[in-house]
Amino acid sequence: MKYKACLFDLDGVLVDTAIYHFQAWRTLGKQFDFELSHEQNEELKGISRVESLDKILHWAQFQATQEQKDIWLKEKNETYLELISHMNPSEILPGVLSFLKQLKDQGYLIALGSASKNAQIILEKTGLITWFQAIIDGNKVTKSKPDPEVFLKGAEALACSPANCIVFEDAQAGIDAAKAGGMKVVGIGSSAILFGADKIIPSFNDIQVSDLLLL
Ligand code: G6P
Ligand code: MG
Repeated sequence: MKYKACLFDLDGVLVDTAIYHFQAWRTLGKQFDFELSHEQNEELKGISRVESLDKILHWAQFQATQEQKDIWLKEKNETYLELISHMNPSEILPGVLSFLKQLKDQGYLIALGSASKNAQIILEKTGLITWFQAIIDGNKVTKSKPDPEVFLKGAEALACSPANCIVFEDAQAGIDAAKAGGMKVVGIGSSAILFGADKIIPSFNDIQVSDLLLL
């Protein structure tokens, strides 16, 4: 088999949590009179919580002490945790389950590679957790995408070489991370905003496992 493993980002690839991150940042932004736009939210995809707050404060032109930032990071996450506490399997994105099943049936290894420190909870709430042989999340990495660390650790956990791995990503930072790690990458979303992927699909309804051999 040309490829042995598939590494999945979580937010925006397997589940649509971007809306919950958006709502939680908007709620926080009220404290310093800032309304995050959808375009700005796009730039927060794939990057860590800490980096997201720094970007937001920059856009808001707000200087904050480290102490204040720590309070806001905690508050944002509390709002986010409340929003995701209601998640269930119906929030798995279209085509994902059937694609995971095909992968498993054909002997591919499956890992998660996400910047989120809340990945485990989301995988449990949606029931997705049973599909993964390895989970690399924001608690296990020191460098954020576009650094390839999260995907290289995923490949290592599966004992696969990067050249045998395919990454699925919805964020530009994640596509860049996969490429920096020497992996193939399938972008989920629109070719108008995602660059450098080996293939772009609107959703998992638009791909079969047999298509991976053409990458
Ligand atoms: C993912 C999302 C980002 C989010 C990051 C950290 O990469 O795309 O928008 O900021 O995870 O998530 P966390 O759940 O740790 O705040
Ligand atoms: Mg994502």
